Amino acid sequence: MKYLAVSTEALKQAADVLCNGGLVAFPTETVYGLGADAFNPQALAKIFEVKKRPHFDPLIVHIAAVETLEDVTNLSLLNTETKEKLFLLVEKLWPGPLSLILPKNDKIHGIATAGLSTVAIRFPDNECAQKLISLSTGAVAAPSANPFGAISPTKAEHVRDGLGDKVDIILDGGCARIGLESTVLDITGDNIKILRPGGTPKEAIEDIIGSINDNTIEDSIFIENTACGLTSPGLLKSHYAPRTPLTVQKHDDIINQPYKSGFAFLFFDGFTRDIWLKTQKPADSAIIMVLSETGQVQEAAFRLFETLHVLDNEKITHIFAQLAPQNGLGEAINDRLIRASS
Ligand code: TXA
Ligand code: MG
Repeated sequence: MKYLAVSTEALKQAADVLCNGGLVAFPTETVYGLGADAFNPQALAKIFEVKKRPHFDPLIVHIAAVETLEDVTNLSLLNTETKEKLFLLVEKLWPGPLSLILPKNDKIHGIATAGLSTVAIRFPDNECAQKLISLSTGAVAAPSANPFGAISPTKAEHVRDGLGDKVDIILDGGCARIGLESTVLDITGDNIKILRPGGTPKEAIEDIIGSINDNTIEDSIFIENTACGLTSPGLLKSHYAPRTPLTVQKHDDIINQPYKSGFAFLFFDGFTRDIWLKTQKPADSAIIMVLSETGQVQEAAFRLFETLHVLDNEKITHIFAQLAPQNGLGEAINDRLIRASS
């Protein structure tokens, strides 16, 4: 494995590795991705092997130019209304943390899509990712670069710790700017649906294409692997999980949660922590963390996975985590916390 800081030379080497069927971990604005050439089924198979990812869980294909959409999808299968929505979303929200489910074409092998007739496409808003994709075949399939079910990596070090030598190159491009995966949106059916809340808030999508249905927190955690296949297989209950047991609590519950030795507390905001500190008597050594002192969802989203990585390396027996307000990126934060708690 080569661990390289992003540079013109490193990008060239990494693109070569991709073109020759290897695996490259690279930064995006959301989390680090584990990339393989989207047109090479052998390379795609390696992703599943290295991550120990079940084959029923499809990958996101990353592109670096809107024109590439034609090479990886079959847009002629979309009706006029859906096409209009697609182009509006692409115009306003790409590049960015939004993966769109679209009909696939024959160039995309079924291994990338877990046998589905649709493919998830994303145009990441990160210069390193864009250059890497452009220098390779123009389409890079990449799940988050973590072992299946573990916390997603927001730093190159997380990738090294989780996957290490199983990757040919890890490109270090610093901290992921958003820190949470992309929103996965299905616009192909009669009902437009958010399959996974993420870096693009629902409100931003609704501003462009009008009101949409999404899974409530309660719905999404009960989506199970059924014999007929999953609508979005990444929505498994136990995902993004730290090794330490984690319980999610609303503000009113966490302020009454008694402290015990070995417990760690993860507050959404400093205000709630201060209330809790007034009534509970934690030990000096207690681990008490706050995602955003002033309660900003964006800052909290940025710090969530990094904080879970830190907590997971502490000697603790239980994490109590406060839910975020369910607006903007708060929805994605809560989705990840609830999955982490399964
Ligand atoms: O931000 C992100 O999306 C990151 C970076 C690397 O781009 N990638 C990522 O990939 O999170 P992954 O594999 O961890 O999650 C992909 C999600 C899964 O929930 C998967 O089920 C869903 O996208 N997905 C992919 N293709 C799909 C399809 N054809 N239909 C429904 N869901 C799909
Ligand atoms: Mg993932």
